[in-house]
Amino acid sequence: MPESTSAAATGATIELENLTKRYPGNPQPAVDGVSMEIGAGETVVFVGPSGCGKSTTLKMINRLIEPTGGRIRIGGEDVTDIDPVRLRRKVGYAIQSSGLFPHMTVAQNIGLVPKMVGWPKPRIRSRVEEMLDLVGLDPGEFRDRYPRQLSGGQQQRVGVARALAADPPVLLMDEPFGAVDPITRDHLQDELIRLQHELHKTIVFVTHDFDEAIKLGDRIAVLRERSHIAQFDTPEAILTNPADDFVSGFVGAGAALKRLNLTRVGDVEITDWPTVTVDDPLQHIIDRLRAAGGNEILLLDRRGRPYKWLRRGDLMRAKGSLARAGTLVHDTVTRDGTLRDALEAVLTDNAGRVAVTGRHGRYEGVVDMETLMNSVHELLEADRLDALEHRHDLEEARADRTQSEQEGSGGFGEEGTKA
Ligand SMILES: Nc1ncnc2c1ncn2[C@@H]1O[C@H](COP(=O)(O)OP(=O)(O)O)[C@@H](O)[C@H]1O
Ligand SMILES: [Mg+2]
Repeated sequence: MPESTSAAATGATIELENLTKRYPGNPQPAVDGVSMEIGAGETVVFVGPSGCGKSTTLKMINRLIEPTGGRIRIGGEDVTDIDPVRLRRKVGYAIQSSGLFPHMTVAQNIGLVPKMVGWPKPRIRSRVEEMLDLVGLDPGEFRDRYPRQLSGGQQQRVGVARALAADPPVLLMDEPFGAVDPITRDHLQDELIRLQHELHKTIVFVTHDFDEAIKLGDRIAVLRERSHIAQFDTPEAILTNPADDFVSGFVGAGAALKRLNLTRVGDVEITDWPTVTVDDPLQHIIDRLRAAGGNEILLLDRRGRPYKWLRRGDLMRAKGSLARAGTLVHDTVTRDGTLRDALEAVLTDNAGRVAVTGRHGRYEGVVDMETLMNSVHELLEADRLDALEHRHDLEEARADRTQSEQEGSGGFGEEGTKA
């Protein structure tokens, strides 16, 4: 393992305290007193309408924009006044259309910050290779290319590699996948999730796309004008218990459907289904069909993979030929698939169930429509209760704080200092 990997910096906390930005000539602040705490290793997504101050807030964290007021702490250290160049080491930054320098090669772009902070050349070179590898680009093929010789998705990958090159604990991303087509965007999102599983950076990600926010965020900050926080919570809580009409409007239609993206097939009940295999004697198959009553049985191939759905009568119609009888299994899901994938498969197949497979595509069970409906209903109920409890806790904590403040200011009594 190269030294840079074993000593990899994982995330650091970020604290924003009353962060404010006024642009000259505008009486209204663009960002008005934002306070929030982001945990080490957490992915927080800022989502909100265009012009609400997302980018301004983000750029103050790495001082690309100087705050007019407030404090920023990273890993407990106040960075509001430190040298912006030193901040580059702590904070990686990736933006839409990658922001690569067109006259520099891929390697020079990625090596930019390491060079700036004085790494020796061989270390930069090996770091560039490592980073290209990390984002799924072959170093031999891409190192010496110029940005214009890359597709949009590849440029975006290089942008992420550059942001991570100096191994900063914090990664800021401003609509990084906004300019690529939907399929590439989906892949890039998946890769970011994979990267984050490996790296545990603290990521602040800006988007105006709520679905992207749900997919990527551990928590989502829904921002309204002047970066006022409308709600800052987990995707589950926001979907099931939006704080107000503004948030509901942003969540958009289909909150319950979006919730399906957050639950894995492995989290719901997978039922046993009557199965037979292509090697079973015909009489055994007929007996199983009879025992199954009006229902289907699942025919597995020689390797135990779902092959066909068989109903009573299918065999007779096919004159006893297994090869001609029944309906081919079109779609299966794995335990890692989302409930949305499962529902999609159930609806497409038009038969109310989908087979679940494990390693090597082998049959493990079935999820049916009824289980899906019950699970979603239970999930939404549980979310709602969680969110209510959470809100209740917050209100209690606030009440406690107010009380102790009042007692404290009253005469510096013991109660006040204890709290
Ligand atoms: N350099 C600037 N000078 C003056 N106003 C600006 C500047 N940059 C942004 N603004 C204004 O600040 C507000 C927030 O902008 P921005 O942070 O870019 O929003 P978002 O990223 O959410 O779309 C907008 O009203 C925008 O017009
Ligand atoms: Mg912006």
